[in-house]
Parts: sequence; structure tokens; C-alpha cells
Amino acid sequence: MCTNKKYTLSDEIVDYINECLSKEHPESYLIAILHKVQGIYGFLSEIHLDEVAHLLQVPTANVYGVATFYHYFRLKPRGQFAISVCMGTACFVKGADSVLTSFKSELGIDMGETTSDGLFSLEGTRCIGVCALAPVVTINDRVYSNVVSQQVSQILNEIKAAERV
Ligand code: FES
Repeated sequence: MCTNKKYTLSDEIVDYINECLSKEHPESYLIAILHKVQGIYGFLSEIHLDEVAHLLQVPTANVYGVATFYHYFRLKPRGQFAISVCMGTACFVKGADSVLTSFKSELGIDMGETTSDGLFSLEGTRCIGVCALAPVVTINDRVYSNVVSQQVSQILNEIKAAERV
């Protein structure tokens, strides 16, 4: 069993990993562990990935491999405004791809990235259950419906203007 003295991970995570180590095939809990880390810290930092590897006694490359394979995992902190473009079938068919392309080009970032000022992050999401409103974009808790790529700069400008007030 490992103590948490030399780790930056929370006691809760370290205890959970120790619990996993007491089970058969502890490495099979890697995804669950990463979910917990992201749930607490909002993203998976390098130091936390290294610590998970050390605590779970698996190669660091394995942990990075899983963290980078699944789109769900974020390796950078989210921006103040987390933009999610729904890439479910209904939204995709109605042009979500070009909406996403507009966000990428307006913000100068790719999926999973955050702008250098920390204001916006961009990600894709699966169907959020409001297909009749496709294409759909969520920004934090707000849902934007029937979005077209020409609206993207206006949406971003409105958010920036509200931030300046
Ligand atoms: S596919 Fe986008 S809300 Fe259902």
C-alpha cells in the first residue's frame, strides 16, 4: 500500500488506487481511476498521470495511452467557457461539422484545446437528446439551437462583450 505523503493527488484518489491494488488485475481499474481524477481536477495533468502510473505500478506510457485514446479525457484545463459541439447523427447531418470548423478557425484551437487566454475550450460531444434542435452547441450550461457556422463569430463576440462588462 502507498501513502499519499509524496503525491499531489488527493487522499480520496490515493485511497481508491490502493483499494484497486488489493483487487485482481488492478490495472483494469485504470479508466475508472482516470475518471475520478478528471472528476476532481477537471482534467488530467502530466503530474497526475505520472502519479497514477506510479501508484498503480503500471508503465507511464500505458496511462498516457489510455488518457489520449479516449476523447472524454482532457489533458488541459477547460476554458472559462466550455464549448461543446454535438457531433451526434442528427446534428452532424444538419451541419455540425461546419459549425465545429468555424469555432476552430475563430478560436485558433483544435478539439480538446483551450485558448491561450483561458477563456474558451472546444470539444465535441455525443447526442445530448435535443435532436429536434440540431445542430446544437452548448456553452457551459446554455444550449444554442439550430446553429449555423455564420453565427459562430457573433456567439463568441457576445460572450466576450458580456465578459468585458
Ligand atoms: S444528435 Fe445532437 S442533440 Fe441529438
